[in-house]
Amino acid sequence: MREQPVETLTEGEALAELARLAQALAAANRAYHTLDAPEISDAEYDALKQRNAAIEARFPGLKRGDSPSDQVGGAVAEGFGKVQHRVRMLSLENAFAAEEVADFDDRVRRFLNSPGALAYTAEPKIDGLSLSLRYEGGILVQAATRGDGEVGENVTENARTIADIPQRLSGEVLQVLEVRGEVYMSHADFAALNARQAASGDKTFANPRNAAAGSLRQLDARITAARPLRFFAYSWGDHSAPLAATQFDAIQRLHALGFQTNPLTVLCDGPEAMLAHYSLIEAQRATLGYDIDGVVYKVNDLALQARLGFRSSTPRWALAHKFPAQLAWTELLGIDIQVGRTGALSPVARLKPVTVGGVVVSNATLHNEDYIAGRDSRGQPIRAGKDIRIGDLVQVYRAGDVIPKVADVDLSRRKDASQPYVFPTECPECGSPAHREEGDSVRRCTGGLICPAQAVERLKHFVSRGAFDIEGLGAKQVEMFFRDAILPVRTPAEIFTLAARDAANPLQKLRNREGFGDVSAAKLFAAIEARRTIALDRLLFSLGIRHVGEVAAGLLARHYTTWEAFEAAVTKATPGTAEWGELTSINGVGEVMAQSLVDAFQNPAERAAIDALAAQLSIQPVQSRGAVDSPVAGKTVVFTGTLEKMTRAEAKARAEALGAKVAGSVSAKTDLLVAGPGAGSKAKDAERLGVEIIDEDAWLRLIGA
Ligand code: IVH
Repeated sequence: MREQPVETLTEGEALAELARLAQALAAANRAYHTLDAPEISDAEYDALKQRNAAIEARFPGLKRGDSPSDQVGGAVAEGFGKVQHRVRMLSLENAFAAEEVADFDDRVRRFLNSPGALAYTAEPKIDGLSLSLRYEGGILVQAATRGDGEVGENVTENARTIADIPQRLSGEVLQVLEVRGEVYMSHADFAALNARQAASGDKTFANPRNAAAGSLRQLDARITAARPLRFFAYSWGDHSAPLAATQFDAIQRLHALGFQTNPLTVLCDGPEAMLAHYSLIEAQRATLGYDIDGVVYKVNDLALQARLGFRSSTPRWALAHKFPAQLAWTELLGIDIQVGRTGALSPVARLKPVTVGGVVVSNATLHNEDYIAGRDSRGQPIRAGKDIRIGDLVQVYRAGDVIPKVADVDLSRRKDASQPYVFPTECPECGSPAHREEGDSVRRCTGGLICPAQAVERLKHFVSRGAFDIEGLGAKQVEMFFRDAILPVRTPAEIFTLAARDAANPLQKLRNREGFGDVSAAKLFAAIEARRTIALDRLLFSLGIRHVGEVAAGLLARHYTTWEAFEAAVTKATPGTAEWGELTSINGVGEVMAQSLVDAFQNPAERAAIDALAAQLSIQPVQSRGAVDSPVAGKTVVFTGTLEKMTRAEAKARAEALGAKVAGSVSAKTDLLVAGPGAGSKAKDAERLGVEIIDEDAWLRLIGA
């Protein structure tokens, strides 16, 4: 989908767009990190993130409390123990064009107020999954996945089965050292694994990264042991003593301790050398024998890295320069329409199978009807206005992902008899009219819960991992029960009456069915029973209300704390009421989400289904979360005058990292003014208002710098 340019968005449109992007990115994160089943390509993900950042830059006031810019990765899956990372595991800022590399260098030098050239390391960006390995006294004591960056999964037993990961470090060891790097699978091992999986009738993996993730995250470490995983070390977290003075030397040190480090890691004296190394790595990409998706640049001097610090989820001292996506041409055999949970009609291209970057592709997304017609949601041409027709030769695009997309069409190869594709205006599943709301690029089935496709997708969402996550009741079982004549489950509430209905039916018991037995039927009922008690945030996410993803559900739950309070509020909330005001005042809840909630709770059929569900459950209230622990947490700070020890940007970033709010001007709400030489009117304002004034040194002592 080509979107409206950020420069032309009105404030209202930007608000709605930020809500949409937050939702889309949260869903993509969950699919990728928690479910190991990406739904969009990395390139699409990056595009969504960039658009989000661009809108936030234009409308800083609209930035959401749950902004995707502040988040890394997905939530922790259940099944593994949790590990709180002592040093957060971060993501990297992405760049695609050469100019962005020079911009990065400029930005770094400006931040440091350093006019001279800086050295950077450049190394391949490995397309696997990151892992943190904790060594105490040189012995491996814990391995953890990234998770959401703060809390990961404990995969120690699995990591111990990986030959590249030393159990014991060699040479001079530190008392504590967390080594970080990437777990990956080579192309040859991936092909052999998939052949074995296929031969034994097991699921095959879409690409080496998914195979690596699926193999590492096995509850049974014996399975991991049988999978050929590898590991490159490229970074570190908690450490009791410095590893070295530079990034480059630290990598050498990791190598000396017994880790594999990437042989294509070099030191560059500036952007030109960085780009040269990028070209060299790109040229070798196809023959490396493992997937990489770009080149990572890092400021070499570790003292400068420390000064540069972090934004909310990425370091200022590193940049991932991504490779362009991979392409191939093939024939479009047909277009299927899938109906999703919110009624969205999604066109899917059925393709003549073609290999794109080593993966055979036979399906690709066509986004929506405008995309097929060759225009964006505002009627502006995309692909120079070329439409896409069945029988066309089309260009398929992917970037280390699972769902590829159709990017272009070759008109010179179009058959004379071809006809423009007519997008259905009725739902192919239930026949209800399919409408498009103004400004929405998606056509949606209006059938609501009467549409079997929507109802079944809602149920699948309801039982999915971040939602009710009922063991033994996955997508397949939901499909089966949905169509079942004896024990139908068509609404979430009916899941919780399943056992009673089965007990009351003397004849065809579930345990006598094919695929079930005494034990499995009893287990299913027990798993359902176990979920009758549910946390409020999970319940809210489970309802599958448009725009209410996992993050939003958490915000709502923490604000209202109980189901009763939440339900009473959304039942009364319509624009203009006090309840509406309260709902939209929640940081991260915009008008679009609020309206969507209100629509769901005020629609009689939806409401009946929600009430029936709530009557079956015991809904647990949610505790609110504590803030960062620091002397300046929650304080509003203003900087003025000349700072001598650091730039204004650096000071602001540090303060924010410690939980302070940094304001541009002094008001009665200001807690602290940090005044350097030459402070003028702000210092006078502070004096007048009785705001505490300190100098830069006092500030540094206060924050323990
Ligand atoms: S450095 C604080 N170096 O890319 C920065 N990351 O897109 C730590 N990755 O989460 C990361 N190769 O999983 C770094 N040579 C490399 C990498 C690399 C792959 C991954 C890593 C990171 C992700 C960000």
